[in-house]
Amino acid sequence: MKNISYLLIAFIFFCSCSVKNADISLKTVEKTLDIAQQQTLLMAKAMEKLPGRLPKSISPDGQLETSSEYWWTSGFFPGQLWYMYEYSGDERLKNQAELFLERVENQQYVTDNHDVGFIVFCSFGNAYRITSNEAYLPIIENAAKSLSTRYSPVTKTICSWDRASWNNQWQYAVIIDNMMNLELLEWSAHKFNEPRFSDIAQSHANTTMANHFRPDGSSFHVVSYDTITGLPELYHTSQGFSHESAWARGQAWGLYGYTLMYRYTNNKNYLDQAQKIADFLINHPRLPADKIPYWDFDAPDIPNALRDASAGAIMCSALLELHQYVQPQKGREYLDVAKKQLVSLCSDTYLAKVGTNHNFILKHALGHQPNGTEVDVPLSYADYYFVEALMRYREQFGE
Ligand code: GLY
Repeated sequence: MKNISYLLIAFIFFCSCSVKNADISLKTVEKTLDIAQQQTLLMAKAMEKLPGRLPKSISPDGQLETSSEYWWTSGFFPGQLWYMYEYSGDERLKNQAELFLERVENQQYVTDNHDVGFIVFCSFGNAYRITSNEAYLPIIENAAKSLSTRYSPVTKTICSWDRASWNNQWQYAVIIDNMMNLELLEWSAHKFNEPRFSDIAQSHANTTMANHFRPDGSSFHVVSYDTITGLPELYHTSQGFSHESAWARGQAWGLYGYTLMYRYTNNKNYLDQAQKIADFLINHPRLPADKIPYWDFDAPDIPNALRDASAGAIMCSALLELHQYVQPQKGREYLDVAKKQLVSLCSDTYLAKVGTNHNFILKHALGHQPNGTEVDVPLSYADYYFVEALMRYREQFGE
């Protein structure tokens, strides 16, 4: 009897420890935001000396890798600075945010790819949200106009990549990542009273919903359309393991994209699509216990495959929004996964110590495995969506 009691006490103790481990405290979130704030200031100091450049990653020889404003990730660091200013009220961060905004301002006019949405909305969108400075508005509106030029009424989508830029292998490439650019259009439609921006965004989201997804809720990376018939011609990947595989960051982009489309439109189809993606992800037998995905759910070397902290951070931020829109039981499931992701990303495994990691916040992200570039490195967008997830958690669960 005595032995059974000891066993019972040990069992209860074990259970309470595991529940505790699965949970994230506000204290940990704020401690991590403090670390993020210090890293962001150090990064800004280092980048000040490199005019026109934006942080990107760490190169194979261990150096800080930067990009020009034309690389798709250029808006993330200005956006991160704004989040950190919002968190701390530290005027040094605001000054730096203004400096780095200038570096991406000309992107408002770029029409030769779809990344203007990422670049301008993560930077100037946050700048306006936080400061209400009206000087930012024409820049955002111009960016929405630029992105709209890439819409085709034949394919009913926005073109991601120009045909010539990929050796003509795709007539009209649309990548799942493109869902993220729709926020620029939806926000601008409301702000500037331009319903056509929203029409384009919804048309793109509807066509993508019809053609990018498999019955299990996973998505292809690239769908190319025939420019005459407007119908899909090829279902491919660029950054995933194979055409048929579930590239982790692509799944996270889709999850985030349909969640934000529901926020702006209240269209239940988008909510259902976001839930389908979330259910595919959270119930996937190859989603690891710490909930940070392998770079591709079908990577052949799982469980030894590399993780992608950027996919984990994007998914976490999206789930922290989506859990609020769904039935309570589902919401608890989504929130539980998001919290586990925060526990993991706030741990020493993924979170860099202040002054290390070339001042990036997270370690172990993966840019482009098939090309062998940005493999197991920090990435500016992993940091951006991680900081966003921490801020979302704090807003919802702060005192
Ligand atoms: N949008 C490109 C990527 O996710 O790598």
